[in-house]
Amino acid sequence: MKSVELPSAKRVPALGQGTWQMEEGGAGRREAIEALRLGIDLGMTVVDTAEMYGEGAVEEIVGEAIAGRRDQVFLVSKCYPRNASRKRMVEACARSLRRLGTDRIDLYLLHWPGSVPIEETLDTFMRLKDEGKILDYGISNFDARGIQRVWSAPGGGGIVTDQVLYNLSERGIEWDLLPWCRKRGLPLMAYTPLGQGALLRDPALARIGRRHGAMPAQVALAWLLSRDGVLAIPKAGRVAHVRENRRAADIVLDAQDLAELDAAFPSPDGPSPLAIL
Ligand SMILES: NC(=O)c1ccc[n+]([C@@H]2O[C@H](COP(=O)([O-])OP(=O)(O)OC[C@H]3O[C@@H](n4cnc5c(N)ncnc54)[C@H](OP(=O)(O)O)[C@@H]3O)[C@@H](O)[C@H]2O)c1
Repeated sequence: MKSVELPSAKRVPALGQGTWQMEEGGAGRREAIEALRLGIDLGMTVVDTAEMYGEGAVEEIVGEAIAGRRDQVFLVSKCYPRNASRKRMVEACARSLRRLGTDRIDLYLLHWPGSVPIEETLDTFMRLKDEGKILDYGISNFDARGIQRVWSAPGGGGIVTDQVLYNLSERGIEWDLLPWCRKRGLPLMAYTPLGQGALLRDPALARIGRRHGAMPAQVALAWLLSRDGVLAIPKAGRVAHVRENRRAADIVLDAQDLAELDAAFPSPDGPSPLAIL
């Protein structure tokens, strides 16, 4: 599978697994755990979660899924902006570690920009890193101007990613944030890569999919995987979806496919506010 290099020189697979709303998935908790385990077995070892998801319930699901296979997984979690202060982040991180059943988080993110000074948040990230509780840190939902402010603060050059909404129908970051990150070797984590399912009814995806014997979801993921410096984290609470998503990493879109996708989902021709969920 294609991999992406983090600035800390670690390589991680470009296709991972999201977990938002996994506690309320129609297929149920047991299948969600099974789906995550299968994804890990198939090489989708980046598992993205957050203290916000189900107010801790999803971190517990992830903890169950990775029990006995912690070393195979690159674990990502996020703290609420309101918990991004020196005192509260240390406590939030400890709660996440307990729910995840581990002694370290591979990548800990600030979930979105908040009111705690970024200098304090970065300082706390560095302290948690020194203590070995997190191995890398980063941000989420920061636009091009926001990431530049972080970058210029003490410790800001240590971030290894910005996790943002990016999929075929939300390409705004290609104007500014994505080139800025590429120039600095910072990979972006693309969240909501399937548009939460909405993208999958698009006729262009169905048409291109037919040429590859693939489903629309697989085309949407293959497109993201064709982008340099991008890591996608689709959420699938169903085992069948996980299998399908993994196969997306084997699809190579050709020039005609990419041109048709550009026609159906044009790249931006100017700046736009960062899309968020
Ligand atoms: N940093 C942030 O602020 C932020 C915001 C949003 C999301 N995220 C992260 O990004 C992850 C992914 O985003 P998301 O959950 O918003 O949406 P998504 O991954 O775009 O879509 C998830 C939906 O697509 C369905 N699905 C998955 N694979 C499919 C397939 N092969 N065929 C058909 N349907 C399929 C899932 O169904 P089933 O579950 O039934 O399989 C689920 O309903 C999240 O889970 C979370 O980890 C981060």
